[in-house]
Amino acid sequence: MEYRNATLKDIPGITELQLKYHVSTIKEEDKIDGFVTTLFTEDQFKELIQKENGLAIACDGNKIVAYAMAASWKYWSAWPLFQHMIKDLPNTNYLGQTLSMENSYQYGPICIHKDYRSSKVLPNLFEFSRKQMNKRYPILITFINQINPRSYTAHTKKLGLEVIKAFEFNNNQYYELGYDTSKKTPGATI
Ligand SMILES: CC(C)(COP(=O)(O)OP(=O)(O)OC[C@H]1O[C@@H](n2cnc3c(N)ncnc32)[C@H](O)[C@@H]1OP(=O)(O)O)[C@@H](O)C(=O)NCCC(=O)NCCS
Repeated sequence: MEYRNATLKDIPGITELQLKYHVSTIKEEDKIDGFVTTLFTEDQFKELIQKENGLAIACDGNKIVAYAMAASWKYWSAWPLFQHMIKDLPNTNYLGQTLSMENSYQYGPICIHKDYRSSKVLPNLFEFSRKQMNKRYPILITFINQINPRSYTAHTKKLGLEVIKAFEFNNNQYYELGYDTSKKTPGATI
């Protein structure tokens, strides 16, 4: 398995994976194992790759089997949910610090093709992304929909993210979670 940053040529493969597991297009029987809610347009993928270098992928040969996003809050401010989270940063403390757009970034969504779940792809892709973002930010912040228990278990029990608070947005219930980016990811082998 190869872990690397995506380039513009990878966008079609990432779009295919996004379609397969996005809440609006996922097969009903796949929903139980999680879904992604942030939908990216081609331009948003381009900006993420070119301006943020924030699109990590796992490749099995030529096939893109997983992706994980990570970017500054400035990038995410295009989506209403993130505007809500950004406004709340000054009210949130984690690792002894008050969160800000300077000391934290937003990780996620992450999406792994179902044939590659329950494997090293989860910790290794997370680790690949964490190592790069650690050079810029001490704190990782993310959110998980409370009706996505697989993602919750994967992030809290396997990767060691900590729940900071619960919040509601647009009638959905979410957890906000954090991670100290100086810590190596449990279970990672890269
Ligand atoms: C969420 C995701 C990245 C986690 O990666 P993963 O490789 O599946 O994670 P793992 O299987 O290592 O860990 C999840 C654990 O949750 C538990 N689990 C499995 N299915 C579950 C379910 N339906 N409900 C609750 N817990 C579940 C298991 O303990 C599992 O570990 P195990 O299979 O080794 O026992 C992946 O499932 C995925 O891409 N899902 C679709 C998109 C998504 O939900 N992205 C996250 C958005 S926040």
